[in-house]
Amino acid sequence: MKAVILAGGAGTRLRPLTNNLPKPMVPILNRPFLEHMLDSLAAHNVTDVIITVSYLSDNIRNHFGDNGYANMNIHYVLEESPLGTAGAVKNVEKLLDDTFLVLNGDIFTNLDISKMLLFHNDADSKATLFLKEVSDPSQFGVVEIKGDGYIEKFIEKPNPGETKSNWINGGVYILEPDILQIAPENEFYMFERGLFPTLLETQIPMYGYRNNPYWIDLGTPSNYLRVNHDILNAVDESMIVENRDILNTEGYFAHPSAVIEGPVIVGRDCFIGAGSVIRGPTVIGSGVTIGEDNVISGSVLWDGVKLGHQVILTECILADDVTVDDKVRIGNLCMVASGMNVTADLQPGISLGPTG
Ligand code: GDD
Ligand code: MG
Repeated sequence: MKAVILAGGAGTRLRPLTNNLPKPMVPILNRPFLEHMLDSLAAHNVTDVIITVSYLSDNIRNHFGDNGYANMNIHYVLEESPLGTAGAVKNVEKLLDDTFLVLNGDIFTNLDISKMLLFHNDADSKATLFLKEVSDPSQFGVVEIKGDGYIEKFIEKPNPGETKSNWINGGVYILEPDILQIAPENEFYMFERGLFPTLLETQIPMYGYRNNPYWIDLGTPSNYLRVNHDILNAVDESMIVENRDILNTEGYFAHPSAVIEGPVIVGRDCFIGAGSVIRGPTVIGSGVTIGEDNVISGSVLWDGVKLGHQVILTECILADDVTVDDKVRIGNLCMVASGMNVTADLQPGISLGPTG
């Protein structure tokens, strides 16, 4: 089966982390998110992956190259200007001749795609959407369904009171190629506001596959931290990683008086100074230098971060090569753009990028 990955969005809600890195490439446990996604597709017999790119497209192509990945062929298709979710797929229509998958490029899930495909075939569906139940559906596409999964209504980002359904569009679709005929060529067009509502109006069978796997949209700071925490905490059995108390990939140096309370992952070539405490769930990238008497908890540090002494990091995200001066405290949900030097405390929720 072929899969189309929607990887062209600008990742606005993760700015400034996404200033120079597209959202699908943000690291989850020190590996670009897209690697995790491709690994899971390879496990479900996907043979060809079409990555539709726009924002910072070179970054994705340079990382994966042109020789495929995990025995899958990779095709990159560039949109000069974003075509929207369905426009991006219409744009690669000539590559699609059979039932295919579409995935939002920011969904971390262990959904069983093979079972979803069986459901799609059994239902004789033209478009099957993976549906997930959530308590607050306001930030998602909400779907109203009949008992057998037949979709009756699709409302993107509903206003309060607009629907009673708590089943949301999980951003994974199995589609038949002929439904793309109704999408306009070379125009900005969305599944959520265009193609899906049109399918419903014309009564082309659209089904929801309701399931409850681990699922998260990593496109906001709190969700980005959460997915790293959840995997380290192995909240879902299928995510258990071996020896997760300290997941040490290639070797680091920690002073004997430093304390690491798992689950913590430490990348290659890191240095952890005397008296520093690292509390999990925390991710430390490669080439990170941590001075003396620092306290780091619940945070994600990308590669090349350098901390002075007596720094306190609490549930924050520091991008590549950030430096932090002595005694600085960085609070909950702060994001610091790559290469920034943090010289003063950052209060919770404050982000620091080149423009402030
Ligand atoms: N190629 C391409 N071109 N990709 C795009 C474009 C585009 O013009 N616009 C968005 N994307 C990609 C984004 O990179 C992302 O991977 C995916 O499409 C979805 O875009 P988001 O901006 O993350 O949408 P959302 O999270 O607000 O809502 C979507 O996902 C929800 C689930 O997380 C919708 O599909 C909702 O219905 C859904 O519930
Ligand atoms: Mg999203």
